Amino acid sequence: MSNKPDDHQKEPPTTGHSWDGIEEYDNPMPRWWLWTFYATIVWAILYTIAYPAWPLIKGATPGLLGYSTRAEVAQEIALFEAANAELDTQLASADLTTLPENEELYSYAVSGGAAVFRTWCAQCHGSGAAGAVGYPNLLDNAWLWGGSIEDIRHTIAHGIRNENDPDARWSEMTAFDEILSDEEIASVVQYVMSLSGTETDATLVAAGEPVYLDNCAACHMEDGTGDIYGGAPNLTDAIWLYGGDAASIEETVRYSRFGVMPSWIDRLSEADVAAVATYVHQLGGGE
Ligand code: HEC
Ligand code: HEC
Repeated sequence: MSNKPDDHQKEPPTTGHSWDGIEEYDNPMPRWWLWTFYATIVWAILYTIAYPAWPLIKGATPGLLGYSTRAEVAQEIALFEAANAELDTQLASADLTTLPENEELYSYAVSGGAAVFRTWCAQCHGSGAAGAVGYPNLLDNAWLWGGSIEDIRHTIAHGIRNENDPDARWSEMTAFDEILSDEEIASVVQYVMSLSGTETDATLVAAGEPVYLDNCAACHMEDGTGDIYGGAPNLTDAIWLYGGDAASIEETVRYSRFGVMPSWIDRLSEADVAAVATYVHQLGGGE
């Protein structure tokens, strides 16, 4: 509060309201404020005439200018697609083994492939591609069906154990539930665990070896390193698709698993398949 004596001499009239002795001045609005206020009202009216504004039951009034954010997005997408069409054509027919030599196309493939992966693959393989039980980790160097860029492209294009695509990767582990006795299963499970050094019972391991050689080596190989032509996992690397504890291995041996991946060549363009294959290949584990 100012204590200059003449401050109180030109006091404006009050509104007559008074609360606990505090009175309210009746100052007029400043001119500039009032005109700005009127201008915003005029602006708002013109705006709702020119642009989509008033909500209707379906949609809104279109506005005289015919502006639409949807049309704008569609136009922008069309622009991007036109700009990428040339790169897409090149990518669809490119030799992926030498792609890294073409820097522009390679980085286009990796970033486009990352976007495809987030949209179509992450729900099964995880957003970081680290996988989950039954869905392989694509970051490591263990490949069920081969880790060369062409192997990866084929797997993605045609899928795995997918009946709709005659070129899909295909194999089926035998379910041993009715073929082997409970004792044989218990021993072969311990033998499989011994291949990566996690067995718990040496007697069972010894009994399991002949069971393994007779029933499993044809697909998983005598030394247990697996076979990419049949998608039979390497059993010696301690990387487990379905779990490496005795109960999980027993489940696999008794009933087998039959993991299915859809084929993508009908859903994605050739260029997108090439891009996502390139992306997966460079994640770290590509051969
Ligand atoms: C519906 C779930 C699902 C989706 C979606 C999916 N995958 Fe798979 N994917 C699998 C399964 C299951 C396997 C392992 C099958 C097996 O047991 O051999 C697999 C295996 C793979 C493999 C082979 C790995 C190896 O070790 O050889 C690659 C590569 C792969 N997926 C890439 C992709 C890409 C790229 C996409 C997206 C375009 C994708 N997947 C989408 C389920 C899925
Ligand atoms: C006809 C070929 C074939 C035979 C025979 C076979 N397997 Fe398999 N095995 C596979 C395939 C293919 C898979 C991949 C899982 C799936 O999707 O079915 C697999 C998966 C496994 C797994 C899971 C590995 C993981 O990473 O989780 C184990 C363990 C296994 N087999 C053990 C055995 C044992 C033990 C025997 C013998 C009693 C055997 N297999 C016989 C083909 C075979």
